[in-house]
Amino acid sequence: RSLSYVLGIETSCDDTGIAIVDTSGNVKANVLDSQQEFHTRYGGIIPPRAQDLHRARIHSAYERCLEEANLQPEQLAAIAVTTRPGLPLSLLVGVRFARHLARRLKKPLLPVHHMEAHALQARMEHPDAIPFPFLCLLVSGGHCQLAMVHGPGRLTLLGQTLDDAPGEAFDKIARRLRLYILPEYRLWNGGRAIEHAARLATDPSAYDFPLPLSQQRNCNFSFAGIKNNSFRAIRKKERMERTPPDGIISNYADFCAGLLRAVSRHLMHRTQRALEYCLQPQVRFFGDGQPTLVVSGGVANNDTIFANIQHLAAQYGCRSFRPSKRYCSDNGVMIAWHGVEQLLQDGDSSLRFDFDKVDIQ
Ligand code: KG4
Ligand code: ZN
Repeated sequence: RSLSYVLGIETSCDDTGIAIVDTSGNVKANVLDSQQEFHTRYGGIIPPRAQDLHRARIHSAYERCLEEANLQPEQLAAIAVTTRPGLPLSLLVGVRFARHLARRLKKPLLPVHHMEAHALQARMEHPDAIPFPFLCLLVSGGHCQLAMVHGPGRLTLLGQTLDDAPGEAFDKIARRLRLYILPEYRLWNGGRAIEHAARLATDPSAYDFPLPLSQQRNCNFSFAGIKNNSFRAIRKKERMERTPPDGIISNYADFCAGLLRAVSRHLMHRTQRALEYCLQPQVRFFGDGQPTLVVSGGVANNDTIFANIQHLAAQYGCRSFRPSKRYCSDNGVMIAWHGVEQLLQDGDSSLRFDFDKVDIQ
């Protein structure tokens, strides 16, 4: 098969991502406009505002992407776009834009499931190391799942969060701690700020949290308990120290280290169950291949969490991978790459020209 180019469009949340990837996994262009700066000012994402920002930026992001790739639109083989899951208002901007492009350029559309794109992204950079099937731990601001991945469009869910996602918990706790008043963290997401602060801890065992769902024999997750315990511990410390309403507790770094340890332990506990299940003689999910685990989504950026999971997996003879950092969080590359995976798996039968039927959800 000769080399062809797929354009990927991602607008499921608060990043406008447009990228072009070729069928060998070379990134020809990667444009990413983050709305983080706007939303941190309001303490969270306001969906109509996110939609306005996507609308205002998507055309120029597309133009810049073609320019960066030094390609003409006619050279694209297909247009891949996130259709689910995500904020409906945000998704609509990407899907409408993709339909408009597809119609104008007479190119096929490839609908992409956002979480699946996170799951397959690591294969772009390690094509030979990560054959199907593999186990995937998806950890982001909106999701937390363990899934067996058989191929594009073919995932079996083993467990998921019953309440918050880990990134969401990090973001809310970082805001409650008021980490954003420290200039170095002002524009960072909560998870990144907590990871950095945790490295500055002088007494990392000062705070401890119970292990969630410790008695449940399944692969589900829960982060609401850790979040509420965090709020309670912060309030207690603030009262003790008489922290002003715009201040921050003195040992915030120790707190972050305890929080990160609690989240890591929970993720490891559930991943261990999933590995044990996949390796059972009746299941033999990996067949004769080497057991492989992919950690993906924004929280996979976290070096402490990834190192812990990697260490655990190694005890089961399982290799672990994650996408490189620039591709862990939401971006257009992972959507374009999922399009490539669809093309490689299904050939031309995956190509859809019924543009109006490609819609959100
Ligand atoms: O995958 P993503 O970019 O968007 C979603 O689909 O949710 O993930 C964003 C989430 C945020 O909640 C952020 O706090 C978290 O990923 N995150 C991190 C780190 N970098 C981003 N969490 C922990 N450690 C990090 N270094
Ligand atoms: Zn995501």
